[in-house]
Amino acid sequence: MLSNKNIVIGITGGIAVYKSLDVISRLKKLGANINVIMTKSAAEFVTPLSFQSLSQNYVITDMFDEPKTWDVEHISLAQKADIFLIAPATANIIGKIANGIADDMLSTTVMATQAPVLIAPAMNTNMYINRVVQRNIQILKDLGYKFVDPASGRLACGDYGVGKLASPEDIVEGVISLFNGLSNKTLKGKKVLITAGPTQEPIDPVRYITNHSSGKMGYSLAKASRDRGAEVVLVSGPTNLEKPKGIEVVDIVTANQMYDTVLKHFDAADIIIKAAAVADYKPKEVSNNKIKKTDSNLSIELSRNPDILLELGSKKKDKILVGFAAETRDLLENAKGKVNRKNLDFIVANNITEAGAGFKGDTNIVSIIDSFGNIEKYDKMKKEDISDIILDKIYDLINLKE
Ligand code: PMT
Repeated sequence: MLSNKNIVIGITGGIAVYKSLDVISRLKKLGANINVIMTKSAAEFVTPLSFQSLSQNYVITDMFDEPKTWDVEHISLAQKADIFLIAPATANIIGKIANGIADDMLSTTVMATQAPVLIAPAMNTNMYINRVVQRNIQILKDLGYKFVDPASGRLACGDYGVGKLASPEDIVEGVISLFNGLSNKTLKGKKVLITAGPTQEPIDPVRYITNHSSGKMGYSLAKASRDRGAEVVLVSGPTNLEKPKGIEVVDIVTANQMYDTVLKHFDAADIIIKAAAVADYKPKEVSNNKIKKTDSNLSIELSRNPDILLELGSKKKDKILVGFAAETRDLLENAKGKVNRKNLDFIVANNITEAGAGFKGDTNIVSIIDSFGNIEKYDKMKKEDISDIILDKIYDLINLKE
């Protein structure tokens, strides 16, 4: 997702400075190239050397440092940035940017950049709710600056309230959202219905049949669709994932519940992506009481669940319908069969026995097969990157049809 993207991170003074180390480490793991600009007060909290080691780039702390390159540094960084992140952002830097003050390296570079700017404020509650600060934030929002809102909790000064720097996870998600939103393959005005995670088919009050799906693939697709401007309904089986903001999440447990929910939202949807791993079978009878063990073996009779995707294919008309195929052998042949049988625009096939593919992990190895039998094979990549490829393909299909 962030491979080879240039992110310039401005760090201003506050106790939360150390959390930016975590943010940088996460962004680096996602492949981003990081340059850090610290204000003098930020450097009082954590040494520039720590940021230099993590970012693997020289950290700039003052405009009149001896330049490390012949570029005019504030201009070259301003031009290099694909995204500018300021975390933590004090009331002071917010006030400076909102009022056009450029009197140090950070404020000067922000003023010179044309990259989108994402600001993660962190300050004492009374400062944060101060009307001047709120007015400055509003000025910036009106000008298109993006914010990762601070969290509430116990602040370093001992007060309780809003003003804590957002978690590193939320800040990184803000960066990813901003990148997704920059895609020129927008889905604005489209309604996207996505399924994610496993289903659970009860045997008795304590046991059920399920599979290893974590929901990561479907949730990543849902967030990426939202970031491209789509209205998203996410039908989710049981997962441990946080509910994404700005998305209507409908929790279900069984395949039958998924069937009912998906069909309820189907008519309104322009695009349907079925990333969920749905149980094909369920116990024919569900015991009301816990099944007691005996000395004999136990057989459980299974009955078929509805094939949701097959049914959607029969009602598809001009909607875009995308399926997934999880296979352990004959991946391409099996997946091709599903494209035709289920009347799909394309299928995303993964061999779940390959290392780094399929369930649970952050990566997958997929092949995309379209309704004409064209096959595109991809190397192992992050599920976020796969989401981007899928959404780009959907965008191209919409444009072909319109
Ligand atoms: O959730 P993660 O841990 O990130 O893992 C991602 C994933 C491996 C679950 C995902 O990439 C994936 O492959 N999902 C589909 C898994 C699956 O059920 O494959 P299938 O070949 O059994 O089903 C084919 C398609 O039909 C799927 O789109 C499935 O949602 C749909 N289906 C299947 C059975 C059924 N009764 N109804 C359905 O709609």
